[in-house]
Amino acid sequence: MSQLSVGVLVSGRGTNFEALVRTIKREAIDAQVKIVISNIPDALALKRAEILNIPSLVISHRDFKSRASFEQTMIRELTRYDVRLICLAGFMRILSPVFHKHYQNQIMNIHPSLLPAFAGLQGIQVHRAVIESGVKITGCTVHFVTENVDAGPIIIQRAIPVRENDTPESLAVRVLLEEHQAYPEAVRLFSENRLKIEGRHVRILDI
Ligand code: GAR
Repeated sequence: MSQLSVGVLVSGRGTNFEALVRTIKREAIDAQVKIVISNIPDALALKRAEILNIPSLVISHRDFKSRASFEQTMIRELTRYDVRLICLAGFMRILSPVFHKHYQNQIMNIHPSLLPAFAGLQGIQVHRAVIESGVKITGCTVHFVTENVDAGPIIIQRAIPVRENDTPESLAVRVLLEEHQAYPEAVRLFSENRLKIEGRHVRILDI
């Protein structure tokens, strides 16, 4: 099987992107991040890309009249790099059905909660809601992206306890450590062709 070409879409800090690149290398996963695209021109993720020697591009949604033309431009660039798997890593735009159809079952996202709990929120908002709710366990979820936000078939979840003295910020730090484990693992399984989607379920095949 040929090496898996990965494209990462980001909007901000880019620690998941960096964890993906570093783990792929360290664990010799048969995949390569070919391109990182940011919709935010000064995203810290772009600096990381430079340090990691990964080609990067800014495609700012503000430069386009319609969502369709913004997404067509992304599709064109991703095609140029022959991307077969798209990883949303802190990408804060909702993608339209056009994009989903083009990359059916080829888009993953990471969310900082145990979905379906706390869906539809972003970043620190998630951890704030977790603490307010009084739940004792939280974590992260890697899932395939479908047209319904944060509701696609779940690939991997990692759980951690919520401590009594946790703040949204302290929780975010500990969940992020789990994210950095979960996302590369999901990419590894995809690269090994071991993820089988059956309706809402993702079956992980043995080698
Ligand atoms: C991550 O915690 C990710 O789970 C979250 O944004 C952060 C991005 O951090 N994504 C969402 O909330 C999506 N709804 P990073 O840029 O350092 O990877």
